[in-house]
Parts: sequence; structure tokens; C-alpha cells
Amino acid sequence: MTEMERLSNNLTAINRVEITPAGAPDACPPCELAFCGLLSDAAVPRVLLGESESLGRATILLVDRAEINRQLIKGILKAGPYRMLEARDPQSAFEILEREPVDLIVADMMPAGGDGLDFCRRLKSHRRTRLIPILIITSVQGFDNEVAYLDSGADEFLIKPLQPAIVRTRVKTMLRNKRVVDSLEEAESILFALAVTVEQRDRETGNHCQRLAALSVALGKALGLPSDDLIALYRGGYLHDIGKVAVPDAILFKRGILNEEEWSVMRSHTWKGEQICCPMRSLKPVLPIIRNHHERWDGTGYPDGLAGEAIPLLARILQLADIYDALTSRRSYKSAYTPEEAVAMIEKEAEMGWRDPELVSVFCEMVREPNFVTQSAALFAAGEGETENAALQSMLESLARMSRELLK
Ligand SMILES: [Fe+2]
Repeated sequence: MTEMERLSNNLTAINRVEITPAGAPDACPPCELAFCGLLSDAAVPRVLLGESESLGRATILLVDRAEINRQLIKGILKAGPYRMLEARDPQSAFEILEREPVDLIVADMMPAGGDGLDFCRRLKSHRRTRLIPILIITSVQGFDNEVAYLDSGADEFLIKPLQPAIVRTRVKTMLRNKRVVDSLEEAESILFALAVTVEQRDRETGNHCQRLAALSVALGKALGLPSDDLIALYRGGYLHDIGKVAVPDAILFKRGILNEEEWSVMRSHTWKGEQICCPMRSLKPVLPIIRNHHERWDGTGYPDGLAGEAIPLLARILQLADIYDALTSRRSYKSAYTPEEAVAMIEKEAEMGWRDPELVSVFCEMVREPNFVTQSAALFAAGEGETENAALQSMLESLARMSRELLK
């Protein structure tokens, strides 16, 4: 079974999960254990589970037989925003790793003849721990020692006596790199699988998610939003309708008018999508997009009936892009409207009180720019271009790969 097939199977399983059919919870509830289990088996890296609030607080595991040494490292890192865990040997360390998400391991162990090299090799051979960076602290000097450790999977080295400032800097750098790695893993395993599943269910929509992501980011850039928001918009382009995996085909693809019960199930894709994504801590900025992309400016939308600026800005942005793309795309039941017709219809909806008038104004102006669509698509098609934000650049590159897979 290929990786792609395995991920698709997991999402098929998600589709079968029975979620309360009607009524939107007030907030994203704690995840059902069974639900998290489905995700954690394959589609979701373990590192994403748990500690959804701890984006800014990394967890460091100290492994050292001598308590005095562990105290020394804790003292050096005391001022940092870290949660420190301790283990006196590899066995204890693995027991902790079984139950705790860890962002960095700082280990002081003897290499050849000791258990240090084997510890590193074991960490790098397990899926759950292979992406956790390892900082080795040692008093054994020499080229051979360093080569042996690096060969066994250690990422960085520090030789005693320790310089506190260097320890702090090295730890900070390794944690920053770890976050980039997390981003990549999320993008390539979670977003890829979810996006493929959504797109495959409704072949009529073509590359809707890809276009929507590009349109949303373009509007975000026009508004001068920071790169974190642009990343959220891009992810939201793919994930906003992921809750539809829990809506039966008979309702999702029904020809004709939905009855009230069916309509209730259809509306539930917003908060069901939020439930699906809420275990993943990096998707926290995307949750308001997923939940609130069907609200209306006058408060007549769903699921929360939010009005005006109470509707999250990113949700309002994605909504406009979603409507525009739906209008300008051909469906079996309608032909594609021209960009001019689509813009006129969106402006009409703003007059009716459904859309944010200021945002509509910026959006329509942007869309009317010559070659706008070509430019926005090119922005992501190649995954190229300079950006100051390494995380954004990594995300764009991985999503460009994802887009190429979708287009195969
Ligand atoms: Fe939707």
C-alpha cells in the first residue's frame, strides 16, 4: 500500500465517523479520543497531538545520569520559555517520549562503550521520535567521537566546559529549526491528505482549493497582512470545507432543494471541519476560517450568526475568494460567469448587506487588475520567489509539491 493510499484510507475512515449531526457547539470541544486516534495513526504526526496551546513553549528533555549535570543545564536555560523534562537513562527517556511531545533532546552520555550512540540511533529509527533534534553534550573530545555521534543521528555537539550563552543560542536555533520541520511535516502529510480527499469527492470543483488558496493569499497581501495570516489563508483554501467529509453523499450531491434536516447537516460542515482540525496545534489560526466562512455581514449566516467585524477577517477574505471562484467556474448545472459578471454579483451581495463592503471594494479592485489571475496563480505554482519568512517559504515549497501531485 502506498503512502497516498494509506492516507486516503484514513480519511475514508474519518468520513465514516459519526459526528453529532445537528447544532453547532459553541466552541471547538475537547477531541474525542477515538477521533484523535484515527488521525494519529498515520495522517497526523504525533508531534501535533496534545498541548494545543503551547506553540510558544517548547518542551526539552534532558537525559543525563548525573542529577547535578541536569541541574546545570536547567539553570542555564531557566530564563527561556521552556518546559523541562528529565530522564536519567535512555530507558526512562523513551518512557517519557511515549507519553509526551518533545521538541528537543539534550543528552550527556558516553559514546563508544556507553549507550549514547545507540540512544541516538534508536531515536532516529522511530517514526515518532525521528524528527526530534538531539543536542549532545560531552566531555570526550576528538574528531572520531564527533563523527560517531553525527553518524548515529545526533544533530549538534557541545564539548564541556559549557559556555551558558552558547548553550542558550544553540538550543534556540535548534528549536527554531524544529518548528520549520514541523511545518513541513504538517503541510506534506496532513494538508496533502485532506486536500486530496476533499477534491476527489467532488470532481466538478477541479482545482478549486488551489485557486481559492491563491486568491485568498492575494487578497491578504493586498491588505498588507503578515505572513502568518497568509499561511493561514493558504491552508484555509485547502481545508475550509474539510468538514464535508462527514456529510453524506446523498446530501452533498443532491440535485434539488435540501429539506431542513438535510440543510442542517450541510451547514454542520463548518464546525465539523473545525473539530477535525482542532487537534493540530499548528492549524489553530485556520480554525476561524473553517468555522466561520459562511457567516454573513448582516448576521444571517451560519453557524454562529456572527455579524460585521465579529466575523474573523480571514474568514471574510476566504469567503469572497470562495464565492468568486464558484461564480467564475463552470458546473454541470451552470456555465461560468465572466470575472466582470462575478464582481458585479459580489458587489450586489455587499449592497444587500451580506458581505463586508470595504473588503468587497478591495477585492473587486484587485480582481479588475490586468493579468490578476495569472499573477496570483504563478505566485504559488512554482514555489519560487523571495520571502523573508523561512516558514512561509517552506510552506510554499511543500504546497507547490502538493499542487503538482494534485495536478498529475
Ligand atoms: Fe463551506
